[in-house]
Amino acid sequence: MSQVPHHIAIVMDGNGRWATRRFLPRVAGHRQGVESLRRCARACLERGVAVLTVFAFSSENWSRPAEEVSGLMELLALALAREVPRLHADGVRVHFVGEREGLSDKIRAGLAEAEAATAGNRRLTLNICFNYGGRWDIAQAAARLAERGEPITEVALDRAMALAHVPDPDLLIRTGGEQRISNFLLWQAAYSELYFSDCLWPDFDEAALDVALAAFAQRERRFGKTSEQLLSHNASHARA
Ligand code: FPP
Repeated sequence: MSQVPHHIAIVMDGNGRWATRRFLPRVAGHRQGVESLRRCARACLERGVAVLTVFAFSSENWSRPAEEVSGLMELLALALAREVPRLHADGVRVHFVGEREGLSDKIRAGLAEAEAATAGNRRLTLNICFNYGGRWDIAQAAARLAERGEPITEVALDRAMALAHVPDPDLLIRTGGEQRISNFLLWQAAYSELYFSDCLWPDFDEAALDVALAAFAQRERRFGKTSEQLLSHNASHARA
């Protein structure tokens, strides 16, 4: 079995501190964060990761200073214009995950355009969570089922969730030294391996990714079973 995670999710934390340490405005850190994201997406492609999901703007980020919020919106517009063609050339399919209400018409059109332009790509799926929150996702999925009069079961909720097009993340990385989930994939991370790095996101390079992948390869994923059950399951599969 391959030890490379099929799906990696990342909380890209530490952009603000990266900028502050250089006496730069916080948005300069986010700008550098986009560079880091491009590098990371390429590295994932090269290592055979199929899905990368990143937290770019949380439902709670609206409460940041107005200047930082507008800086992040401008950065998204810039990334749509400049980064999406590069991602497309690399065979990356881009999905935007999150609430579209509250975003400008121009940005909403840009998101739809980027998704349509890259829909046929298969090398890597990049989910960019923007105006996203794990609680929002669970609530919107439940509301959709209620609207259709469908019973709220685990399977039905799973299918109504914003990331229903990909399997759950195998590895969830958070950079920037904090050890919490911060309302990221609350439902989907139920069995993800968690990996925390002190590296600030703009500094998270290929070597840092490889350290995270090596740590993942050492983990024993039990999904609620015992080690002994896993061993006998693996042995019977090896015989088959
Ligand atoms: C957390 O760092 C990071 C964010 C809130 C934004 C992450 C966004 C990017 C990496 C770039 C945006 C991407 C797109 C596609 C527009 P922080 O600001 O909380 O850092 P701090 O903890 O050091 O203050």
